[in-house]
Amino acid sequence: MEFENLILEYQEHIAILKINRPKALNALNSATLKELSQAFTQLADNANVRVVLLTGSGEKAFVAGADIAEMSDMNPQQARRFSQMGHNVMDQIENLPQPVIAVVNGFALGGGTELAMACDFRLAGEKAKFGQPEVTLGLLAGFGGTQRLARLVGSGRASEILFTGDNLDAQEAYRIGLVNRVYAQEDLMDQAEKLAQKIASRAPIGVQLTKTAIQKGQNMDIVAGQAFEAEVFGEVFSTQDQKDGCSAFLEKRKADFQGK
Ligand code: HXC
Repeated sequence: MEFENLILEYQEHIAILKINRPKALNALNSATLKELSQAFTQLADNANVRVVLLTGSGEKAFVAGADIAEMSDMNPQQARRFSQMGHNVMDQIENLPQPVIAVVNGFALGGGTELAMACDFRLAGEKAKFGQPEVTLGLLAGFGGTQRLARLVGSGRASEILFTGDNLDAQEAYRIGLVNRVYAQEDLMDQAEKLAQKIASRAPIGVQLTKTAIQKGQNMDIVAGQAFEAEVFGEVFSTQDQKDGCSAFLEKRKADFQGK
């Protein structure tokens, strides 16, 4: 599928999805949200893809937010719909079977931070900037920021970020646990690909069920969460990769996981 505002490339078992609206620093307008939704639908159905890297094209931005020009004249009903359209994409990422890693190469403001937070985890270049500047525009976060930021960094830190609209640099984002790792800008993509390759070499169904259990567990109490874990732990025993993985260990050889 050809996209106007995205670039989707494949490297063996890894898909690299780049948001590509250089004129607007990759800001998310409805057309781009629609394409993201199409891309994730396509990726969910592609059994060859084991890990997705989500990044921004160009040197400067991951995503500089939702498109301010498009939002400026919206009425309340249109704004609600736009917010829900964003939520649907964030939900699609969380529900995607494969892990999605945000590779934050520059500005990730407003909708950019929100998009990164919907991913399973985040890697940042040292020039990355995070933040929820919506209140500086007379808005508030609307692609899940009021929900996911508090879950990720705690409600006190989230409230300060959301109330002030101040940017956080990569080190500060690392300090509060918003990103897992910070790399020199020129090493970011190579390091992200290396990490993606490592995950792609693990048993794909085991990884996917792990993601599902983590995601579902966020909305469950511990009893229900553990019951779900036992369910999927059982499920993995119907896979060829479980048989091969355990025998490979006992036979002191390397497993070659097939995702079956
Ligand atoms: C539309 C944007 C944009 C955005 C940048 N551009 N961010 N267009 N929406 N979010 C455009 C600029 O208008 C400009 O277009 C071009 O991209 C380059 O941007 P500059 O501002 O000239 O670049 P620079 O001076 O380097 O500043 C970079 C920046 C700044 C600090 C990232 O662009 C900025 O503050 N952008 C807005 C960030 C923001 O407030 N994001 C949150 C949006 S609200 P021209 O045509 O002039 O070259 C949001 C709500 C989410 O995300 C929830 C919705 C429901």
